[in-house]
Amino acid sequence: MDRNSMIERVKAEMPEKRWKHTEGVMATAIVLANRYGEDAERAELASILHDVAKYWPTVRQGNVIRDNHLPIEVLAYDKELWHAPVGAWVAENEFGVMDCGVLDAIRYHTSGRKGMTKLEKIVWLADYIEPGRDFSGVDAIRALSEINLEEAVLAGLDGTISFLIAKGKRIYPLTIDARNGLIEEIKGG
Ligand SMILES: [Fe+2]
Ligand SMILES: [Fe+2]
Repeated sequence: MDRNSMIERVKAEMPEKRWKHTEGVMATAIVLANRYGEDAERAELASILHDVAKYWPTVRQGNVIRDNHLPIEVLAYDKELWHAPVGAWVAENEFGVMDCGVLDAIRYHTSGRKGMTKLEKIVWLADYIEPGRDFSGVDAIRALSEINLEEAVLAGLDGTISFLIAKGKRIYPLTIDARNGLIEEIKGG
């Protein structure tokens, strides 16, 4: 599928506001890819598709997870997490994406995971700091993203985990694994 048809199809799956967010993620991911030596086209492709299932009814998202044997444990956690594995499934099965690295960047764009690839970090961070994001501390992470990719993702994960704790919510284990993995990577354990 060519880039423009893909964009039109993804746009149709979400409200205008979320498409603006997606455009912000695309632009940010390209900048990060160029800065850190990743393939900008793959970063853009993952970004175009990362939230494709975000606005699907949760029942439909849950069905994709159950019917296709995606990791079922996510169903016990916040529904906000579901659209990431569902999005990877949609990218592969409805958009014909075959690049496993791109599919994983979509799959882990919300949770992160231990041993994130450079592409996964880029898409995760682009989603967190794209120009439409406006929360306290985002500018500090944007500044960090210009200096060190791993430190910036770690700071973002810290922010996410602190937010969840403040809200009294449970933390998805992959997010803890992602943070532990980054600390090991940065500080050598
Ligand atoms: Fe998302
Ligand atoms: Fe997003």
